[in-house]
Amino acid sequence: MKQDLEQLQKDFAKLVEKISDKDALSLLKNEFLGRKGKLKGLMRDMASLADEERKAIGAFANEVKDVIETAYKSKEEEINAREESELAQSEWADITQPGSFPAEGHLHPVTKAIHEIEDIFARIGFTRFPVPEVDWDYYTFEALNFPKDHPARDDWETFFVDAPEGKKGELVAVPHISNVQVRAMEQLKAPFRILYIGRSYRRQSDTSHSPMFHQFEVLLIDEGVNFTHLKGVIEHFVHSYFGPDRNIRLRPHHFRFTEPSFEVDISCDLCSGAGEVDGKTCRMCKEGWLELAGAGMTHPNVIKAGGLDPEKYTALAFAFGVERTMMMRSGMNVDDIRLLYKNDLRFVNQF
Ligand code: DAH
Repeated sequence: MKQDLEQLQKDFAKLVEKISDKDALSLLKNEFLGRKGKLKGLMRDMASLADEERKAIGAFANEVKDVIETAYKSKEEEINAREESELAQSEWADITQPGSFPAEGHLHPVTKAIHEIEDIFARIGFTRFPVPEVDWDYYTFEALNFPKDHPARDDWETFFVDAPEGKKGELVAVPHISNVQVRAMEQLKAPFRILYIGRSYRRQSDTSHSPMFHQFEVLLIDEGVNFTHLKGVIEHFVHSYFGPDRNIRLRPHHFRFTEPSFEVDISCDLCSGAGEVDGKTCRMCKEGWLELAGAGMTHPNVIKAGGLDPEKYTALAFAFGVERTMMMRSGMNVDDIRLLYKNDLRFVNQF
């Protein structure tokens, strides 16, 4: 009997050696020490022994039980320690590492430019006025001194809307935002100074033209407004947006709705207006200047169309393309305007 117990102890010691997980360990313990286990089986056999012998074997059986339990405990601790260290490895985190941030959006560069432009004009009292993106022929052309069928209309490569004609003519996707001029005169009366920023649509597409682009335009109408005011407002914008080193030049031009009319050029950033860099023609401007805007003193016929007296009121107006303006800022380096509307995050995220 004693030998059986010794054998039991040895068997346990041998088997427990090989075990490496908790489930197997608890099964083994049950097999040896459980209610229907091997030790209990041997102890049941002890019932047939004489009193003396039973006592001695009983005591020995308890020792065997203790030894088995101790072996069990030490195996359990070993497994626990190993599991903990594995967990510590797999769940290890360096709490001094910088956090990872969720992807964050930002405003489109054109939207940012629009906000900046708005701020620059707000400083000298211009407030925003809304632009209808689809408007009648009347506001887009006729009230701006383009008689019906006048060839000057052809310069505006207009998209017409497939819709019935109204009292004010056909509907167009506005090819410029000067359609606001007579609308504003009708609504605001004089004097006023407004800034309007909106989309324009023209049938054109190349590196410097997109069929949809933005313009910002100002209209200031009052008694005694003259050409020096026009130049002053343009300079205020150019110096605020591009910096005090950039110069402007007004070149005579022709628009139906202004008299006199000008195109506004800005000195090139790359060659600082010289037209050449290191003895070679400047690749950006070729002549020192870049064309930027249309401007002029509002034509008396337009002021009349707005219901005001051109003998009493004069007005200045000019319009810039938002994208072109933004692209001409130093360091922008965008060589195709259409990139702005390709929705490619690799491009947009640079700004
Ligand atoms: N509307 C013209 C264009 O899109 C630009 C322009 C020229 C606007 C002269 C004006 C202006 O207000 O006075 O080309």
